Amino acid sequence: MFSTLVLPLALCFVALCEATALYDRNLAYRSPFAGHSQSSVDTREIEKRHIAHVRRQTEVANHFDDEHYPTFYGGDFSNSPFIWSGGLNFTHSVASGDPLDNSVLLWTRAVPIGNPDQSVPVCVSFKISSSSELHGDIVDSGEAFTSYDVDWTLKVEATGLHPDTKYFFQFSDCTNPATQSVIGTTRTLPSPDTPANQVNGGKPLTLAVFSCSQYQAGWFNAYGYAAHNTSAEIFVHLGDYIYESLGNGAPIGRQTLGRELATIHDYRQRLNQYRTDASLVAAHQSGPWITVWDDHEVADQSWKAGTADSNDSTIGCEFSPSGACFTDRKLAAVRAYHEWMPIRQVDVDDKLRIWRNFEIGKLLDLTMLDTRQYDRDITDLYYNTEVINTLSTFPNRSLMGFEQEKWFFNQLSQSQKRGAVWRVVGQQIVFTQLNESGSIDVDAWDGYRANRERIINYLYDNKISNTVVLSGDSHANWVSDLAHPNDSTTYDPLTGKGAIGVEFAGTAVTSGSSFGTNISPAAADVKSTAYVAANLDLQWSEGSYRGFFTLTIDPNTMHTTFYAMRNITFANLDGFASANFVVKAGENRLSRPVAGGSTLAGVLKFNGTKGV
Ligand SMILES: *[C@@H]1O[C@H](CO)[C@@H](O)[C@H](O)[C@H]1NC(C)=O
Ligand SMILES: *[C@@H]1O[C@H](CO)[C@@H](O)[C@H](O)[C@H]1NC(C)=O
Ligand SMILES: *[C@@H]1O[C@H](CO)[C@@H](O)[C@H](O)[C@H]1NC(C)=O
Ligand SMILES: *[C@@H]1O[C@H](CO)[C@@H](O)[C@H](O)[C@H]1NC(C)=O
Ligand SMILES: *[C@@H]1O[C@H](CO)[C@@H](O)[C@H](O)[C@H]1NC(C)=O
Ligand SMILES: *[C@@H]1O[C@H](CO)[C@@H](O)[C@H](O)[C@H]1NC(C)=O
Ligand SMILES: *[C@@H]1O[C@H](CO)[C@@H](O)[C@H](O)[C@H]1NC(C)=O
Ligand SMILES: *[C@@H]1O[C@H](CO)[C@@H](O)[C@H](O)[C@H]1NC(C)=O
Repeated sequence: MFSTLVLPLALCFVALCEATALYDRNLAYRSPFAGHSQSSVDTREIEKRHIAHVRRQTEVANHFDDEHYPTFYGGDFSNSPFIWSGGLNFTHSVASGDPLDNSVLLWTRAVPIGNPDQSVPVCVSFKISSSSELHGDIVDSGEAFTSYDVDWTLKVEATGLHPDTKYFFQFSDCTNPATQSVIGTTRTLPSPDTPANQVNGGKPLTLAVFSCSQYQAGWFNAYGYAAHNTSAEIFVHLGDYIYESLGNGAPIGRQTLGRELATIHDYRQRLNQYRTDASLVAAHQSGPWITVWDDHEVADQSWKAGTADSNDSTIGCEFSPSGACFTDRKLAAVRAYHEWMPIRQVDVDDKLRIWRNFEIGKLLDLTMLDTRQYDRDITDLYYNTEVINTLSTFPNRSLMGFEQEKWFFNQLSQSQKRGAVWRVVGQQIVFTQLNESGSIDVDAWDGYRANRERIINYLYDNKISNTVVLSGDSHANWVSDLAHPNDSTTYDPLTGKGAIGVEFAGTAVTSGSSFGTNISPAAADVKSTAYVAANLDLQWSEGSYRGFFTLTIDPNTMHTTFYAMRNITFANLDGFASANFVVKAGENRLSRPVAGGSTLAGVLKFNGTKGV
C-alpha cells in the first residue's frame, strides 16, 4: 500500500546515507580520485537518481511496475533504493589484489541479465573464508552496489583477515543468493614484523612477474603457466597490461575490438576483452595481483604531458576521432584501469599515485614505482629522438618526479632499517645501460641517466644491500649486476665484485621481441652474443621467447627462474624454464657461475653452455 505520495524529507536523508554506504563500499566508484568529477563517480549524485526513482514509483508507478525492481532489503520503498532482481551475470570471473596483512581487495563484474533500466543498481554480496568450500568460518562478508557508472565492476576491501593466510572468496546476487561467481583464491601478507624465516609458514615465497601483454600479439599462455605450472603465490605485473593499439590479431583469433583507445568506453571495452583470455582469468582467480602501469595503459610512449600521438595541443588532439586530447584520454585510461584492476587508491588526494610499498614480513619489501605516468619528463616520441638523446644526461631530468624519488630513497632506507632482508623494486623500464648495436633506448633509464645515477649513488652511499630491480617494457630478457654503468674501475663483471644489487628484466607475455618480431632462438642468440660483449654489466641476454619469470625468496637466497612459452599463436600451457639464477643474501650480485654456467636459451657473458 502506498500511503504517501510526497516523500518525507527526513527519510530521503536516511536513504541517502544508507544507500551511499552501499555504493561507497564499492571502491570502483571512488577510483581513482573521489571528488574529482573526471576520475570518479559521485555516489551522492547516483543516490539522487534513486530518490528520483522513488518519486517516480510513488507518483507514476508505471515505469517501475516490473517485478524485477524490488526495494533493497524489501523495505519501505520510500527510504530504500530500488535494485535489480532479474538476474546477474558474473561475466569476468573474480580477481583479488594489493594484499596487506589484514585485508585484500576482491574484484568481480556483475552485469544485469535482460535489459533493465540502466540507472538502477545491482546488489552483490561477498564472503571470504579460509575454507575452500566457504562453509562456515566466514571471516568477512558484506554487500555493495554496482551500476553502469563503473561498467558494472565491483571492488571491495575484505578486512579483519589473519596475516599470511590463504583465503577463498565468492560473490553472489543479493536478491538471489543461488547466483554465484566462481570461487577465487587469495592470500594476505605476513605482518611486517614476522621474522624472515617464518614468512609463508617458513616456506620460500614465490612471486611471478609479468609485463607487456598485447592481445593481438598472442595468447596469454604465460599467465596460465604461472597459475597452473608454478608455485607462484603473488602475481606482479610491471605494466603494459593492455595496449591502446588495434593491430591485426585476426590470423590467430585475437582481433581486438573497437579502435585506438581514447575515451572511457574505449578503455573499458579493451580491458573487458583482454579479461576474456582463459589463462589471464585463471591467474586472476588463483592469487592476489600487485600491478603498476607502463605507457600502453594510456598510450604509446606516454609521459606526464603527452604520448607519441597525443598531447594537449591542437595537433595533439587530432589523433582521436572523438577529439579527445591527452588529459581527457589519460583520465579515461586511469579511471578504467582502477575500475578493472584490483588495485588500491594509495592516496585519495593524489589521483595518479600508484607508487606504493608492500612490507612482506621481514623477508622483503616489494616497492612498486611509477616511472611512466606520474611525473615523467619528456621521452622519445619518435619525432624528437635527437633532442632526447641530447637531454638524456641533463641532471634535472626525472622519471618519477622528485616527490616519488624522495619517497623511494626514504623507502629504501626504511626497509633496511626495519630489518627486511630483501628490497625488491618493481618498476617499468630497463634500468641497466644497454647498447644494442649502437642503439640506446632513451625511453628507458638510459634516457634519464642522472636520475639513474642518483639511485645507484644512494644505494652505494647508504650501503643499501640486497636490492633487486624488476623491469619489463623491453620485450626481451636481460639479467645484470647493478653497478655504475659501464665502469670497470668499480665493478668486475667476471666476479661481480663491486656490484650493489641485481636487475632482472623480463620478456613480454606476448608483445613482439625488440630483437625482431618472431625472431628464432638462433638468430636472437647472434644478437645476444654481441650485447653481452658490448655491455659490461649485462650477464645474460635472451630475445626470442615470450614468457615471464618467478622469484622464489627465502632469507638466504633468491632463486629466479625465467620461463619461455613455446608457442603463443594458440592457447596452451607448453613452456620450459630457460634459465635459473641465484642471488645470495649479502652478496649484492648474481652468484657465480652465473646461471650455473648453463641455460636452455639466450647467451651468458662468461663460459655459458646450452643445456639440453
Ligand atoms: C554471461 O556473460 C558471458 C560472458 O560475457 C556470456 O558469454 C554469457 O552469454 C552471459 N550469460 C547470460 C545469461 O547473459
Ligand atoms: C604534440 O604532438 C604533435 C604530434 O603529435 C607534435 O607535432 C607537437 O610538437 C606536440 N606538441 C607538444 C607541445 O608537445
Ligand atoms: C634542466 O637543465 C638544463 C641543462 O642544465 C637546462 O637547460 C634546463 O633549463 C633545465 N630545465 C629545468 C626545467 O630546470
Ligand atoms: C655500442 O656497441 C657497438 C657495437 O655493437 C659499438 O660499435 C659502439 O661503439 C658502442 N657504443 C658505445 C657508446 O659504446
Ligand atoms: C664503455 O666504456 C668504454 C671504455 O671504458 C667505452 O669505449 C665505451 O664506449 C663505453 N660504452 C658505453 C655504451 O658507454
Ligand atoms: C605454433 O603453432 C602453430 C599452430 O599449430 C604452428 O603453425 C606454428 O608453426 C607453431 N610455431 C612454432 C614456433 O612452433
Ligand atoms: C601445465 O599444467 C597443465 C595443467 O595441469 C598440464 O596439462 C600441462 O602439461 C603443464 N605443462 C607443462 C609444460 O608441464
Ligand atoms: C671461464 O673460463 C676461463 C677459462 O677456462 C676461466 O679462466 C674463467 O674463470 C671462467 N669464467 C667464469 C666466470 O667461470
